[in-house]
Amino acid sequence: MEKQKFIPALGYDFLTAYYDLAIKLTMPEKRFRRLLVEEISPKPNEKTLEFGFGTAQNLLLVKQSCPNVDLRGLDIDPKVKEIANYKLAKNALEIPLELYDGVRLPYSDKQFDKVYSCLVFHQLDAETKLNCLKEIFRVLKPNGILIIADWGKAANPIMRLTFCFVQLLDGFNTTNDNVRGLMPSFMEKAGFDNISVSQSINTFIGTFSYFKARKNEVFKVNFKKNVE
Ligand SMILES: C[S@@+](CC[C@H](N)C(=O)[O-])C[C@H]1O[C@@H](n2cnc3c(N)ncnc32)[C@H](O)[C@@H]1O
Repeated sequence: MEKQKFIPALGYDFLTAYYDLAIKLTMPEKRFRRLLVEEISPKPNEKTLEFGFGTAQNLLLVKQSCPNVDLRGLDIDPKVKEIANYKLAKNALEIPLELYDGVRLPYSDKQFDKVYSCLVFHQLDAETKLNCLKEIFRVLKPNGILIIADWGKAANPIMRLTFCFVQLLDGFNTTNDNVRGLMPSFMEKAGFDNISVSQSINTFIGTFSYFKARKNEVFKVNFKKNVE
């Protein structure tokens, strides 16, 4: 299958090298990444995947907060993998990083206790959002948890207006569903249950939300048997 086109970390390929600086300057980085690690709540030996690891900022924090977590990362862009590998080596951390074609996650079914993702889904069009969520659902174990930190429903008209900055960089097609608050319905369509927006913070460039969901596969199978 043909490799999918993708939007690079900062919208354009030549800007990828400046991604970390741009995030530092435009977002409350320490706060939003700390909240993400709290939402993930990593535990020793839990098999955990970062979907769209970018420049490894979250991988570093998750591994530092729980050194024995069984952590790995997946992305689509070879350029960020190079940056991420350099940073991991600099911090003497070994975390397996993989690239894929943007279509099928390179893992067998029911592998992961947790999958998390940060600032990725606003870069995916509706079809890709749903396909990626279905793939994440497939690789999660029953009762596995999905945590997504990304742009969410604008909390007020000012947040809606400032979010235009992100939309100009990343495109309107991929970001409109986020700012309209549609992430939970994508998660539901992919099969997830217990979907919630656990918290949202307002930044200079829009409302940033933490979405959580569970793969309640066991319940679904039993429920189906009972109604048949
Ligand atoms: C804005 S960056 C976020 C990076 C990192 N998660 C962070 O919190 O800083 C978005 C990342 O998603 C990756 N990406 C884009 N499309 C993707 C896809 N279809 N599947 C997986 N990763 C993708 C990009 O290569 C990029 O590394």
